[in-house]
Amino acid sequence: MQKVLITGASSGIGAALYSQYISQGFNVIACGRNQQKLEELTQAHVKGTGLVFDVTQQQQVVEATRDIDELDILILNAGDCKYIDDAKHFDASLFKHNIETNLISVGYLLESLLPKLKHGGQLVLVSSSATIVPFPRAEGYGASKAGMDYLAKSLTIDLKPHNIDVSLVHPGFVKTPLTDKNDFSMPFLIDAEQAAQAIFAGVSKRKRYIHFPKRLTLLLKMFSLLPFAWWSKMISRTTR
Ligand SMILES: NC(=O)c1ccc[n+]([C@@H]2O[C@H](COP(=O)([O-])OP(=O)(O)OC[C@H]3O[C@@H](n4cnc5c(N)ncnc54)[C@H](OP(=O)(O)O)[C@@H]3O)[C@@H](O)[C@H]2O)c1
Repeated sequence: MQKVLITGASSGIGAALYSQYISQGFNVIACGRNQQKLEELTQAHVKGTGLVFDVTQQQQVVEATRDIDELDILILNAGDCKYIDDAKHFDASLFKHNIETNLISVGYLLESLLPKLKHGGQLVLVSSSATIVPFPRAEGYGASKAGMDYLAKSLTIDLKPHNIDVSLVHPGFVKTPLTDKNDFSMPFLIDAEQAAQAIFAGVSKRKRYIHFPKRLTLLLKMFSLLPFAWWSKMISRTTR
């Protein structure tokens, strides 16, 4: 019986991933801070367990994960996005929140959980397609996810001798509580179940790079090849 641990499983993409893995017969450890949501999610499944901790608190990570023995798949998906609305009056606390929640926490989780990942196991890091080109107000969120992209690529090299494959995930816009607060149009928006299916399929094929919806990610990759001034002018005009 394969065992998968998913952070950020109390909501959105993580909750949909939990259901996807449960439906495929996996043992699933669902993590988050919201105990009630985790209980609602896991109580109907004997193969589902909830683990409550804050990923930004290393001591909580250590204590909550101490009794886990072995894992086949580790999916680091927990994250948050706080926009920096006024770059001229830069809010360092918002910047710090993004970096701590989306990047520093990953270091805590790797320290506690990588030793438990089996030879032949898989590490999945959920970043964002926002790293393909820079978006306005995303100085904190984008920087945290760009850091995760680099981390995933370095880990791919260093974990190869341990026979651990790393998958970097670039979701486009997915309808979740995280994006429900966005006040701009989100092209090619998909739902969390579609996102979970794409991640599950990519992880099952041990893909190094999982990105969706392809219409959006390929378009962004095309924009990234254009001179930066073009992108800068275009994105400023469309988001003003
Ligand atoms: N939705 C999109 O369009 C989109 C696009 C690109 C990338 N992503 C990435 O996909 C991931 C999931 O996002 P989502 O859209 O599904 O968001 P969501 O519905 O807001 O879910 C975020 C999850 O992260 C957990 N979380 C946040 N801060 C945490 C903390 N300090 N400690 C423990 N858990 C924490 C939340 O759990 P609790 O509240 O229970 O703590 C929740 O389960 C994120 O990494 C996000 O950056 C999303």
